[in-house]
Amino acid sequence: MLKNKRIVVTGGASGIGAAIVARCVAAGAKAVHVIDIDGDKLAASVAQYSDATLIHHQALDVQDREALTDWLISADESTQGFDIVFNNAGVMSGGDQLLSTRVEHLLRVIDINLIATMIGTRIAAECMSKRGIKGVIINTASTAAFNAMPADPAYAASKAAVVNFTQSCMPLAEQYGIRVHAVCPGVTDTAIVPRNAEWLKPALAAVQWLTPDEIVDVMEEVLVDSNAPAYRRVDNAPRSV
Ligand SMILES: NC(=O)c1ccc[n+]([C@@H]2O[C@H](COP(=O)([O-])OP(=O)(O)OC[C@H]3O[C@@H](n4cnc5c(N)ncnc54)[C@H](O)[C@@H]3O)[C@@H](O)[C@H]2O)c1
Repeated sequence: MLKNKRIVVTGGASGIGAAIVARCVAAGAKAVHVIDIDGDKLAASVAQYSDATLIHHQALDVQDREALTDWLISADESTQGFDIVFNNAGVMSGGDQLLSTRVEHLLRVIDINLIATMIGTRIAAECMSKRGIKGVIINTASTAAFNAMPADPAYAASKAAVVNFTQSCMPLAEQYGIRVHAVCPGVTDTAIVPRNAEWLKPALAAVQWLTPDEIVDVMEEVLVDSNAPAYRRVDNAPRSV
């Protein structure tokens, strides 16, 4: 499904995003447009690929709504369209309860996790529909969408909103042939997990961590399944004692 495809990835410098880029390269994608706020880390990550020319990478903060929109449009122009979009960049607030979390950090989580995903979906769907491309958009949500998360309510709310936004985009499949899905990982072994946070330790001790590759496996299943549901959960198995 990734072979010969033109693909867009946000947050591609590490974790799940880097695993998406690796899978695209291994599968023989035609072009990969990838951004990350950490441009140096992204450049270092894509340097491992022998055919780095198929990767168009740049530093970009998805909070910059105009820059995100312009980048998607220029990606569309440079490869005469794209087929698959992964709205994947995400952050946690860094707090451990609502009252110790600065308001600007709450807003940052919403900007990056939700607003950028909505812009990415909206602009990508417009680009695809103008060219008659029956593409697929995959938004990285979280199992946090389905649970209360007192340590980081903005994160849980942003992911719940991503799931609902994605469900609400399902009619695009009938209207334009563009499928929009969310994949909702459980705890996955990446840099975003605040592994030393006291509030998270009991939960981390209770589950087996997922790997970024396991999340990309599910994303690939969604890509090939034209009847895939609006969202797929990837739950952690309990840790055996
Ligand atoms: N790891 C988990 O346990 C887990 C669980 C559920 C959902 N997720 C989601 O998976 C997605 C990927 O996260 P990850 O686990 O790979 O963590 P990660 O921290 O390794 O990767 C996130 C990437 O997003 C980039 N990013 C952050 N802010 C950005 C911005 N403003 N503009 C552009 N790029 C930005 C980071 O630099 C980083 O490379 C996120 O949406 C995250 O919420 C992760």
